Amino acid sequence: MKYNGYAYIHTIGCQMNIYDSEKLVSILSSYGFKKTDDMNKADIVVCNTCSIRHKAEEKAFSFLGRFAKIKKKKPHLIIVMAGCVAQQEGKKAFKRIPHLDIVLGTQAFSRFGQHIDAIKSGKQKVVDTKDCLMIYEAMPDASCFNENKMSRFVTIMQGCDNFCTYCVVPYVRGRERSRKPESIVEEITLLAGSGVKEVTLLGQNVNSYGKKESQISFPELLIKINEINGIQRIRFATSHPKDLSINLIYAIRDLDKVCNHLHLPVQSGSNKILKKMNRGYTREKYIDKIFALKKECPDIALSTDIIVGFPSETDKDFNDTMNLLREIEFDSIFAFAYSDRSSAPAARFSDQIDEKEKRERLNNLLQLQEHYTQKKNKELIGETLEVLVEGKSIKRRDGFVKTRKNMEQMTGRSESNKIVHFPYEHVNIRDIIKIRIENAYPHSLWGHPVGA
Ligand code: SAH
Ligand code: SF4
Ligand code: F3S
Repeated sequence: MKYNGYAYIHTIGCQMNIYDSEKLVSILSSYGFKKTDDMNKADIVVCNTCSIRHKAEEKAFSFLGRFAKIKKKKPHLIIVMAGCVAQQEGKKAFKRIPHLDIVLGTQAFSRFGQHIDAIKSGKQKVVDTKDCLMIYEAMPDASCFNENKMSRFVTIMQGCDNFCTYCVVPYVRGRERSRKPESIVEEITLLAGSGVKEVTLLGQNVNSYGKKESQISFPELLIKINEINGIQRIRFATSHPKDLSINLIYAIRDLDKVCNHLHLPVQSGSNKILKKMNRGYTREKYIDKIFALKKECPDIALSTDIIVGFPSETDKDFNDTMNLLREIEFDSIFAFAYSDRSSAPAARFSDQIDEKEKRERLNNLLQLQEHYTQKKNKELIGETLEVLVEGKSIKRRDGFVKTRKNMEQMTGRSESNKIVHFPYEHVNIRDIIKIRIENAYPHSLWGHPVGA
C-alpha cells in the first residue's frame, strides 16, 4: 500500500546503524513516506537503536518513552523500535514502551513494509526478530542521493562470530555473513555516479570479509573498489587484529585510494584481560602486527578502541594498557568504561570493578592519550597533506575558532582522517587539495593551500 505522510528517524549507535537508517528511509519512501526533520509532523517515528553499552540502550528507551503523551493525542502515529535493542528485547520492549507499534530486529528490514501495512490495517503490535542469513541488499535510491553527500558508508558484511566476552554484537546482529562482491561494487558505482568521493566500508570484522563464503578476500575486494571511477578515497572499519594479514598491509601500501589510516581495536594491553575477553591475540602479537604495518606504511595513522574496568582488571592490568599507549603512540583512541551486558558472558564474571574506579581509569587513560594526539598532530607541522574539501568550518570548542573568529574558513579531512582548517579559498567542495600545515590543535590542524 502507498501512504501519504512523514517519517522521522532517530539513529543511535555505530556507523552501521547510520547506514541501516538510510535503508529504512528508502523503504519508507517506497511506501510513500517523506523524511522529515520535524518530529511533530511525523506519522511514523523510527528509533534505530544500539545496545553496545547500557547508556546507549537507555537513550533509546528515553527517546521512545517521550511518545506516550503524543500518541494519545495522535493515535494514528506509528512508533517503531528498530535495530539492536529491538533484536535484544523482542516483545519485552512493550513492557517499558507500551505505546510501541513495531519492534523491528536487525534482520527484519526486508519485511518492514508489510509490518507497516499490518498496523495500518488494524493489527495491534508487531514483533519481528527473526534471524535471516541473507543481507538486505537493496541499492541506494533517490532519497539517499538527494542529500548530496560526498562521503558514504557501505556495509559489506554483517554479524560477528568472534564472541568477545563483553560484547552483545554476535547476539543482536547474528552470525557473520558477507555480501557478494558484485553487489558491493554495484552499490559503490551508483554512489560514485551521484558524486560521492569517499566510501567507508563497514563490518564488525571487515578483514575477515568473504572467508566464510570462500569468496574473494578483503584485500581483493579493495582492489576491485580501487578501480571504480569517481571514488577517490576508501576507508574501512572495523578490522580485527587477528585478521590483519600481510596482503591487507600491502593493499594499504599499494592501492592509491585506500587511506593511510587504520583503526585497529586492541581493547586492553594486559594479556590476562585479553584472554578473558576472548580476543584471540596477545599484547605481543598486536605489537608485532603494528610493527609489520609500520615497516610497509611508515606514515600510517593509527587509532584504536579500549575498554577500561573489565572484570578483574587490576591496577597492574590497567598500567599495561597505559604502557601500550606509550609504546604505540596512537593518533587517536576511543575509550569506554566496561558496561555489563546481560546477554554477554562477562556479565557473569567475578570481580566486577567499581564504577568510580572505572571512571578514574578512563580519565587517566584519556589524559595520557591527549598528550599523544597533540604530539602526533604537532609532528605534522611543516608537512603538506592532501585534504578532501568538505565545506565551511563549523565552530568548535577546542580554542581554534576563537582565535580566528572573523575569518571565513574552510574545512576538510586528511587521508589520516584528521580535520584540517584553512582560510577561505575558491576551492570546490569535494576537491582534493594540498594544504601545508602550520599549526596543530588538540583536535584539528591549520594550514594554507599550497600554491595559493
Ligand atoms: N567489531 C568491532 C567493534 C564493535 S563495538 C571490534 O571488534 O573492534 C565498538 C567498541 O565498543 C568495541 O571496540 C569496544 O571497545 C566497545 N565495547 C563493546 N562492548 C562493550 C561493553 N560491554 N562495554 C564497554 N565497551 C564496549
Ligand atoms: Fe564485538 Fe568482538 Fe565481534 Fe567486535 S569482534 S563485534 S568486539 S564480538
Ligand atoms: Fe550498537 Fe548495534 Fe552498532 S549494538 S554499536 S548499533 S552493531
